[in-house]
Amino acid sequence: MLATRVSTIQLQNPTILASGVLGSYGSSIRRVAEKGAAALVTKSLGVEARTGHNNPTVVELEGALINAMGLPNPGYKAFGDEITAAKAGGRPIIGSAYGFSVEEYVEVARGLEGYGVDAVELNLSCPNVADTGTEFGQDPELCSEVVRAVKGAVKIPVFAKLTAEVGDIVEIAKACEEAKADGVTAINTLRAMKIDVRVRTPALGNRTGGLSGPYIKPVAVRCVYEIAQETDLDIIGCGGISTGEDIAEFLMAGAKAVEIGTGVWLRGIGVFKKASEELERFMQDYKYSSIEELVGAAL
Ligand SMILES: Cc1cc2nc3c(=O)[nH]c(=O)nc-3n(C[C@H](O)[C@H](O)[C@H](O)COP(=O)(O)O)c2cc1C
Repeated sequence: MLATRVSTIQLQNPTILASGVLGSYGSSIRRVAEKGAAALVTKSLGVEARTGHNNPTVVELEGALINAMGLPNPGYKAFGDEITAAKAGGRPIIGSAYGFSVEEYVEVARGLEGYGVDAVELNLSCPNVADTGTEFGQDPELCSEVVRAVKGAVKIPVFAKLTAEVGDIVEIAKACEEAKADGVTAINTLRAMKIDVRVRTPALGNRTGGLSGPYIKPVAVRCVYEIAQETDLDIIGCGGISTGEDIAEFLMAGAKAVEIGTGVWLRGIGVFKKASEELERFMQDYKYSSIEELVGAAL
């Protein structure tokens, strides 16, 4: 009843672990797979290792997070064993790649394919590190250049992860579609800030960070809906999802699957199973017999 598919990736249920949450080690990825996530995205990986930004890198709001991790990662070359360990969980692994140039995105994507990932997600949307992420994702030509180059270099499906911080997300999605992306993930975090009023300074070491959790869900739903209306791309919804009804909302907006990040912090590692069971009950109550019937139902 809950089975779905994005591009050629078959999923037992529509929930996928979002990049950056429990995705830095093969062992933690495997544990999330065993707890019910149908597929798992690794932490974003680059060519070189990065230590990330100075602490504090995360502030908690009521039910939401602002993070400025700064893409801490060991570099893709040190991640082969982690992919092997992650794959032992028996679920599709999606490698997240970022770069400071088109060539770097290609190098990382190709390297991850060599380690056996089932698909690659291009992080064109990190708001916290200069000269990567949003730098690419806010420019349709750069997006299409990266996607086209990566598509020419790998055989596995390529998803582009988009930022909502653009004038027209449909223009960006169309650029990815023309460059033959197999799908898009919408959305990454939104730039935000918290001031610690007792010490009169920004609460994050990096001053600004990316807001995630339920506050960004309506923005993400709107983005998915607009992309679904104007393109034929497979869409993975992301942003503020932690319940079965959240998933139903994204599916009805046009997503075929969803990623959950902050929901793991809100409801624990069991969130994938809990939300899937809630979705199943919702489908029974409202007489849906397949995910396909929900996808785009509100369009
Ligand atoms: C602590 C943290 C680290 C993250 N790191 C990454 C990352 O490395 N790459 C990426 O594409 N997104 C990263 N994200 C963004 C999430 O994958 C997701 O797009 C965003 O948080 C919105 O979904 P959510 O509300 O379910 O968390 C990170 C989010 C958080 C909270």
